[in-house]
Amino acid sequence: MKSNLSVVPILLTKNFQLATKVSNSFFKIGKARFFGKRNFGYDHYKNLALVYFKPTGDCNQRCVMCGQYGDKGIMKGIPVEERKKVLPLETWKKLIDEIAPKKPTIYVWGGEPFLYPDLMPLCKYMVEKNLVVAINTNGTLVEQYAEQIVRDKWAAIFISLDAFRDVYDDMRSKGSYDKVIAGIKAISAEKKKQKAKYPLLGIVTVVTNKNYMDLVNLSEASREYNIDLHIYNLGTYTNDNVVTTQKQFMKEKLNTDIDCLESYNTGYNLGIDGQKLYGVLKNIQNNNHGHTIITVPALNPEKTHTYYSELETPVRNHCVVPWCQVNINYNGDVHFCADYPDYILGNINEQSLKDIVNGDRANLFRKTIHESEGGMFPGCLRCYQNMLFGKKIKGF
Ligand SMILES: C[S@@+](CC[C@H](N)C(=O)[O-])C[C@H]1O[C@@H](n2cnc3c(N)ncnc32)[C@H](O)[C@@H]1O
Ligand code: SF4
Repeated sequence: MKSNLSVVPILLTKNFQLATKVSNSFFKIGKARFFGKRNFGYDHYKNLALVYFKPTGDCNQRCVMCGQYGDKGIMKGIPVEERKKVLPLETWKKLIDEIAPKKPTIYVWGGEPFLYPDLMPLCKYMVEKNLVVAINTNGTLVEQYAEQIVRDKWAAIFISLDAFRDVYDDMRSKGSYDKVIAGIKAISAEKKKQKAKYPLLGIVTVVTNKNYMDLVNLSEASREYNIDLHIYNLGTYTNDNVVTTQKQFMKEKLNTDIDCLESYNTGYNLGIDGQKLYGVLKNIQNNNHGHTIITVPALNPEKTHTYYSELETPVRNHCVVPWCQVNINYNGDVHFCADYPDYILGNINEQSLKDIVNGDRANLFRKTIHESEGGMFPGCLRCYQNMLFGKKIKGF
């Protein structure tokens, strides 16, 4: 299966300037891999490669496998008025002014980012500041903004699409499939109309036991949308054992009570036949779709079953996220792990991001993860960030 780096050549053929900017982020991630053991007394802010913005924690869907609003979603237990809270645009702009000189790539996600009322001016401001802006959305609210998105030159838009209507309704939310397809088509049509190469248009598909046997058909259907990239995300899953171990570990080492990992203990990995799935993914890779296809993580074929049925077997380790990335939550909290916002490093309403990234809590986290077995925590086994930014374990 192709690795994540296969994205770089498509960028190069599209736009050299964008490729240079993204390569700068890749370079810093590579540097983090090399110098990963540093913690206290080092300026980590210099190496900020990727900043995740979560402008809202609110969402208009209830996808079953989602750690936020799925069967065990953590956000469902938070009072509505709390999860609808957002930071004013001015606060985000102040943050952008602070980080722009470091030229990190910005990845906007959520919740559903299009529910943030000032998303359009926020992204426009980042582009004006010469930052690479990529967004991940469920696509339900994209159509009405397509003209502006293309005009404002966002670098990339990744729209989540896991299945055709019936399974989509079952996995995500009834009645929104048509809106998502309309959003994808609208971006594609606008790019044509405005003769624009941007945004790069990607589809992100999460593999679950509900959709995996129909992925070849989904990939065939995606031909008509003129997409640039299709990412097959093998999914974040965990089990009781891993959750219990991670809870004890985080309490003991970082004095932190964790809730987020349990939200991925959904069971939507159960019953996935690795052999069949590998056949499906191979079939998809072999058909020339005219767009790039990647799988996260890219696995050795024989190990596909291990990924789903042996959740305690590591496939990636030595995650470099704490050395080159941060996530800003909708309330201003800063944390390293995008999907597990339990350990808070600080808040941008109270401190500069530089002070947070170089602060004692951040350094203690780095020191602890570095000293842990395999340079990761027990709960990182199927974390999406570790799948993207961890080191491939030999044989996997
Ligand atoms: C949490 S969502 C936020 C953005 C937006 N709401 C969306 O759905 O695209 C980010 C990505 O995570 C994916 N996702 C949801 N549940 C997942 C899981 N259990 N494992 C891996 N990815 C998952 C979504 O499909 C989406 O592509
Ligand atoms: S749309 Fe995104 S954030 Fe909302 S429930 Fe689905 S995966 Fe989660």
